[in-house]
Amino acid sequence: MTKISSPSWGTLGMWAAVLALLVAAVGWLAWPSGAGAGGSTLRPYDDQVVLRGEVVYANNCARCHGANLEGQPNWRVRLPDGKLPAPPHDETGHTWHHPDSYLIAVTTHGLEQMLGKAYPNDMPAYGNTLSESDIVAVLSYIKSRWPRSVQARHDQVNAQYGRAQGG
Ligand code: HEC
Repeated sequence: MTKISSPSWGTLGMWAAVLALLVAAVGWLAWPSGAGAGGSTLRPYDDQVVLRGEVVYANNCARCHGANLEGQPNWRVRLPDGKLPAPPHDETGHTWHHPDSYLIAVTTHGLEQMLGKAYPNDMPAYGNTLSESDIVAVLSYIKSRWPRSVQARHDQVNAQYGRAQGG
């Protein structure tokens, strides 16, 4: 008896181990780690996307938002012409307060279209000059530069926005 039952216990044990691995794998995939979670489109944890975004940033955004994402001096104070200087995109600014979809829309269509009213400002709309994937890449690069804790808070902003949209 023992000779027959011990191999069958071994087989059961193996299946139990396989099952445990499967449960772990599904749990890992379902965990909201950022990529694809809630309302998130950006891919700050994908090195290839981030490297592409770094080039797009240097060529298009750095002259206003700063080579190091630091923004223009006194960015909260309106200029004599009534417009605001370019804000920083690092963690000291408010870029990370907004969900992915907002950041993509502002970069693509500009602020006036987002606000739905006249609002003189110096932020260009890039819908005609950059591809959608370049816009995702440049914003992914920006997010990749935030400290891990700020990235995590932004993941939550996306998740909350995703739930509010029913998605
Ligand atoms: C000519 C200068 C200029 C360039 C170039 C520029 N921006 Fe801006 N950007 C601004 C200004 C100014 C604002 C703030 C406008 C306001 O709030 O009145 C702004 C605001 C933004 C915002 C909104 C931030 C927030 O917290 O609401 C995003 C996102 C943004 N820019 C992304 C980009 C990206 C990405 C690029 C490059 C592809 C870029 N900008 C290039 C001037 C610029």
